[in-house]
Amino acid sequence: MANRNLTIGFVGGGHMAHAIICGLIRAGHAAERLCVADPDPQQRERILTAGAQIRITGDNDTAVANADVVVLAVKPQIMGSVIAALATPAAGQSPVFVSIAAGITIDTLQRLLGNGHAIVRIMPNQPALVGAGMSVLVATPATSDAQRNQAQYVAGAAGDTAWIDDEALMDAVTAVSGSGPAYFYLFMEIIEACARDMGLPADLARQLARQTGYGAGRVVAESDLELDALRASVTSKGGTTAAAIGVLENPEFRAIVARALLAARDRSIELGKTS
Ligand SMILES: NC(=O)c1ccc[n+]([C@@H]2O[C@H](COP(=O)([O-])OP(=O)(O)OC[C@H]3O[C@@H](n4cnc5c(N)ncnc54)[C@H](OP(=O)(O)O)[C@@H]3O)[C@@H](O)[C@H]2O)c1
Repeated sequence: MANRNLTIGFVGGGHMAHAIICGLIRAGHAAERLCVADPDPQQRERILTAGAQIRITGDNDTAVANADVVVLAVKPQIMGSVIAALATPAAGQSPVFVSIAAGITIDTLQRLLGNGHAIVRIMPNQPALVGAGMSVLVATPATSDAQRNQAQYVAGAAGDTAWIDDEALMDAVTAVSGSGPAYFYLFMEIIEACARDMGLPADLARQLARQTGYGAGRVVAESDLELDALRASVTSKGGTTAAAIGVLENPEFRAIVARALLAARDRSIELGKTS
């Protein structure tokens, strides 16, 4: 079956589900083949802004019934109770369950859903909200190639995708792409504050920091050059950029960034143990 003809059920219709649904609609997925369950009438209304024909419901079982792909898009804290309350899929129905919940391991999902289900765990990130996300996927052995492809189709609606075989790497993925957007926001925040300190009006400082971050991101996305080559291309010897890079290229700076990523990875490992 072509992916566009898949029936996709969403359990949870919050930010991430909305982002994926908008991407699916943009990709030409028929709205009536999407069904979204959320207890909040306002969230359900918001989902309809992505496509008036999307089926919305307050009942999770309705979203799961007849779905080829079930996207579990609720907060990690309630995933256990939500799955426990789901009706067992009807005989003959074997959807692939796709969880986007941070920190919920495949083992936990298998325990909650029962053995034998095709399960794909995905770590998305916030830029999915604008179709520029990065999602990393890992699947159980019970997941067929076709079902992997279906999960990738769903994740791909919100940006780039990549697969890993070893779920243990998901903690490092979380530290890099899951938490990563916040690192870039912090760097831009610091640049904006420095711009103000150097006397630029607040509005201009804000605009310069944001547009520079956005522009650099786009150049990275659209260029074939490696990052160090891109940096070299704007760093002429003896110039202003070289003066700044000379300060930043300090082993302490790299060590701080490394410590930050390790802290995120270790926290992810810790949260995984309690999930
Ligand atoms: N946002 C991110 O940047 C990001 C990044 C990586 C991973 N994730 C993962 O994505 C998942 C969803 O995150 P989100 O940001 O989209 O959260 P969210 O906006 O809070 O969405 C979760 C939705 O689930 C609804 N819900 C609550 N109880 C439910 C139930 N019993 N049955 C069905 N739906 C229920 C919530 O409704 P109420 O509002 O009424 O509670 C809400 O609309 C999370 O597990 C998170 O870990 C998010």
